[in-house]
Amino acid sequence: MKNQTNIDYANWIPIKLPVTLGTITAVSLLLFALSFLLPGSVPVLILRGLLVAAAVFMGVFFVYMAHARKLLSYEGGGVQGKILDNVLRYLDWDGNGTLLDIGCGSGALTIKAAKKYPQAHCVGMDYWGAMWDYAQGQCETNARLEGVAERTTFQKGDAAKLDFPDEHFDAAVSNFVFHEVASQPDKLKLIQEALRVLKPGAPFSFEDVFNSPRSYPDMDGLMEALSKEVSEIRFVDTRQNDFVPKFLRTPLVAGEMGLICGRK
Ligand SMILES: C[S@@+](CC[C@H](N)C(=O)[O-])C[C@H]1O[C@@H](n2cnc3c(N)ncnc32)[C@H](O)[C@@H]1O
Repeated sequence: MKNQTNIDYANWIPIKLPVTLGTITAVSLLLFALSFLLPGSVPVLILRGLLVAAAVFMGVFFVYMAHARKLLSYEGGGVQGKILDNVLRYLDWDGNGTLLDIGCGSGALTIKAAKKYPQAHCVGMDYWGAMWDYAQGQCETNARLEGVAERTTFQKGDAAKLDFPDEHFDAAVSNFVFHEVASQPDKLKLIQEALRVLKPGAPFSFEDVFNSPRSYPDMDGLMEALSKEVSEIRFVDTRQNDFVPKFLRTPLVAGEMGLICGRK
């Protein structure tokens, strides 16, 4: 585990992505330049064309991802934090009791909730898989540095089968997690599992890529099925929020997000 001394919520676009894209762009350009050392022939011309195409494609992708990363970052545009604040804005809760954050990642939303609701205890769970640069220790250190360590708990688990009894929590939130859960491809069952651990009448606010036809091909059907299980539910098209710059409203970043909120 890295020795963390500063608050670190990481960036949803990990640095290795723009670095990899930039490296591929630079290598393609270098090979393109070196190709002029070869004698001219049709295969060499084709090779040059492919290298230019790769450099342009990867270069554009690199510029997009590098700028998107800056806009998302807490030190830059701060959009990441604003998206999480908005998840809590749609949680109609008095802050008394215990909140669950499903797929808490770096603990950013769990900690925001603990700061917003000073009476609450906030639990963040995640499987902290290898695909993400997040860890339980990072969440705990962030909570300590933010002064909410006593009112937060972080534990490892699977969102598809939560390690909590029925009707345990007074509120639940989640951000950009459900589409990632490979252990349960049926999104209705996954959200039902999240609702299972909520007390009757408890509020929830779940954001995910609900506008993605790949991840949620039948959103109307999903909402209809969920509406039979809860006392209140509505869909919010969070893509339209003015704190999400147009530049980020692409399927690569925030262009497919949406939120469902209500009460069990
Ligand atoms: C895009 S990140 C979002 C993290 C955090 N909610 C945020 O908004 O910063 C997706 C998170 O889902 C978690 N995740 C994926 N599959 C999971 C599963 N089966 N159970 C628990 N967490 C899972 C990943 O470890 C990762 O932290």
